[in-house]
Amino acid sequence: METVVSGIRSTGNLHLGNYYGALRNFVKMQKENNCFFFIADYHSLTTHPDPKMLHGNVKNVLTEYLAAGIDPEISTIYVQSDVPEVCELYLLLNMHAYMGELSKTASFKDKARKNPENVNAGLLTYPTLMAADILMHNADRVPVGKDQEQHLEMTRKFARRFNNLYNVELFKEPKVYVEEGQELIKIPGLDGSGKMGKSEGNCIYLIDDPKTIEKKVKRALTDEGPKAPNSEKPDYIENLFTLLKVVSTQEVVDHFEEKWNTCEIRYGDLKKQLAEDMIKTTNPIRERIIDIQNDEAYLHKVTKMGAEKARESASKIVKEVRQIMGFKPF
Ligand code: TRP
Repeated sequence: METVVSGIRSTGNLHLGNYYGALRNFVKMQKENNCFFFIADYHSLTTHPDPKMLHGNVKNVLTEYLAAGIDPEISTIYVQSDVPEVCELYLLLNMHAYMGELSKTASFKDKARKNPENVNAGLLTYPTLMAADILMHNADRVPVGKDQEQHLEMTRKFARRFNNLYNVELFKEPKVYVEEGQELIKIPGLDGSGKMGKSEGNCIYLIDDPKTIEKKVKRALTDEGPKAPNSEKPDYIENLFTLLKVVSTQEVVDHFEEKWNTCEIRYGDLKKQLAEDMIKTTNPIRERIIDIQNDEAYLHKVTKMGAEKARESASKIVKEVRQIMGFKPF
C-alpha cells in the first residue's frame, strides 16, 4: 500500500468543481492507500489572515471534507498546526534550501508581484514547508494539480539533496498521484466560462440549499436555441451538457442531446433537470455538513485522533533526520 499525502488550503467553501475534480477521487483513493489529509493552516498565514477567521476557516474545510466522505477511521485527517513535527522538519530542510531556487519558484514570483508589500520569508519558504508536510510521512504519492507541480518537483529535489548530502536513503522522491485511467474532469462554470472557480464567482457550493441551486442554474447563460438540426453547440451550451453528464444519468443526457439535435430543446426543462440532479449530489453532503458543524465533540475527537496518528508517523522520520544530521542527547 502506498502512502499518499494531500494538503488542503483552508480558504473558502467547497464547490462542485472541487467535488468532481478531486474530492470524489479522494474518497476512493483512501480505500486503496494509506492516506494523510491535512488542513494547511500554517500555509494560509503567508497572507496574514484575520485571527478571528483562522479557526472558522479550518473548521469549514474540515467539516466539508468529512461530509464529502473522507473517513477518519480509514484515513488520517488532521490540522497541520496540531503537528509540531512539521515545524522542526521545515526548519531543518530550510538549511538546505537556497535563496536562489526559492525565489525562482513561479508561485513566489507571482505572489510577490501581486502583493509587493508583503513578501515575507514564509512566502519564500512555502515550498520547504510543503516538502516537510510530504517528507515527514515519507509519501509515495501526492495528488496535486498543475499549479502545484513545481512545488512537488522541489520536494523531490530537497529529498534527493538530503539523501546525497548525508549519504543515506531516507527520503523517497514522491510522485504525482494520478487516478488510473481517469482524466481529471474539469467542471465548467454556469456563466459560459470554462472553469468553475471561487474567484470566478460562478460556483455551486456543496453547502448551497436547493433553492439557491435552482436560482443559480436558472440564471445560467443560454440563447434562442439551435437554428439547424445537429448543429454544433456554443461553449456555454456545451458547458451545461458537461455539467449534465457529470450529475445526471446517461438516459437524461441522451434525451437532451436528441432534443438539441432535433431543435426541440427547451432550456427551461434542461435547467430544471440539471438543478434537480445537482441537488441529488449536494443535498446529502449539505445535510452532513450541518450535522457535523454542530457536533463539537465529534470534531474534537476526529482532530485529536488525526493529530495523534500524524504525529506518530512524523516523529519517526524527524527522529531519523535528527540522528542523521548529528543531534545527540546528553
Ligand atoms: N500548496 C498546496 C495548495 O496550495 C497545499 C499544500 C500544502 C499541499 N502542503 C501540501 C498539498 C502537501 C499537497 C501536499 O493547494
